[in-house]
Amino acid sequence: MASGALFSAARAADGFFEITAGPGQYKLYSEDAAASDLWIYNGGLPGPEIRVRRGERVKVRLINALEEATSIHWHGVRIDNAMDGVSGLTQDPVPPGGTFEYDFVAPDAGTYWYHAHNKSWNQVGRGLYGPLIIEEDDPVFDRDHDLMLIMDDWRLNDDGRLDTASFGSLMDWSHAGRLGNWLTVNGKSDPSFSLNAGEAYRIRLVNASNARVLELDPDRIGGQVIGYDGQVLTDAEQTTAQALVIAPAQRVDLVVVPEAGRDLALVEVSTSQRFAFAEFKVTGDGKGNPPARLPQANTLPAPDLSNAKRIVLDMTGGAMGQMGPMRHKGLMMTRDDIRATGQVWAFNGIANVDEEPLFEAARGETVLLETINNTAWPHAIHLHGHHFRTVGADGTLGPWRDTFLIERGETVKVAFQADNPGKWLFHCHMLEHAAAGMTTWIRVT
Ligand code: C2O
Ligand code: CU
Repeated sequence: MASGALFSAARAADGFFEITAGPGQYKLYSEDAAASDLWIYNGGLPGPEIRVRRGERVKVRLINALEEATSIHWHGVRIDNAMDGVSGLTQDPVPPGGTFEYDFVAPDAGTYWYHAHNKSWNQVGRGLYGPLIIEEDDPVFDRDHDLMLIMDDWRLNDDGRLDTASFGSLMDWSHAGRLGNWLTVNGKSDPSFSLNAGEAYRIRLVNASNARVLELDPDRIGGQVIGYDGQVLTDAEQTTAQALVIAPAQRVDLVVVPEAGRDLALVEVSTSQRFAFAEFKVTGDGKGNPPARLPQANTLPAPDLSNAKRIVLDMTGGAMGQMGPMRHKGLMMTRDDIRATGQVWAFNGIANVDEEPLFEAARGETVLLETINNTAWPHAIHLHGHHFRTVGADGTLGPWRDTFLIERGETVKVAFQADNPGKWLFHCHMLEHAAAGMTTWIRVT
């Protein structure tokens, strides 16, 4: 099948692919359970797959059929700032009935996703997300051997319908975020995929959960990790899958070569209860035929640690944590303000987007960002418009990522070259935390 065919065939006469955000009914639990009231793209969950070649232009017209304003963010893409889709920072939210045209060039190959970026805790939490795959110039895996699996954690009522009443619960905002009790893959309960023994598959895993850090049993899926957050690793960095920890918004790319007679599965093991939520039926008796080569890594602007601007970020707040003085919208907050606004987390004492950026960097400058998690919770911190590398205690650089997981009490250092001018959001991708204060922005001049 010609790659990109689906995407291009559906284009309107002016070359734009139309994505309508609107309400839809969808069965998240079993076929006989009641349907949930979701908000979805083009009537599907996930939204339509956008698959293009590296360097190709992506033109999408967002049509808003919701009753509230929205926008689309292209998560992980080193995009032109005006197309980043952040309501209130890079564009005005698109009002009900309105449209917005996104038009950008996809610079790097890899596994990405798109999602709503206005009240994300509510909009992404109700289903507004979809897959974005940017193929290498010369893809290694054909479409039958390239699986995009978007995992999501839902909070369902006893009747199997999405619990919508608890969206916005301040309890969730100040604790772990909105955790669910049911997992889907590509919008389906317990899907089954069939794989041929001995053949190599690229499996692209995306965590679209509002707040759940997924941990998959590597013995049941196995394979080799070939990429994180869209960026394929160099040969030397590739590892066999250990515990596969995937924080909200993170991606992991695997190459899996199933063995004859051994079915595989996605099994979540982060809680005391193992939860199998997708299976891979392995048929045939093929002997193993790993690909002769792996996808080529992108070339990204390398950070220069010897010449870095050092920024320290202190994360505070939340339940069971210390809350120092906190500023929000330019004013010091009282306890009553905190209760009234739901702002309970802060970056360097400031809750949510302020007039002033967290810091400014000149284009081309390397930033060494040291984040200290002085809260009682883990967080998944995402920087827009750039990929960064984690920096180990001895100064060694880890893989490229766009979202890092930071455990309670931990300090994480990342470095990147600020090469993309504009205003870039920087926030926790546990979407309740982002709404409750863990959001700021940086400016690249
Ligand atoms: Cu995946 Cu600010 O977003
Ligand atoms: Cu968080």
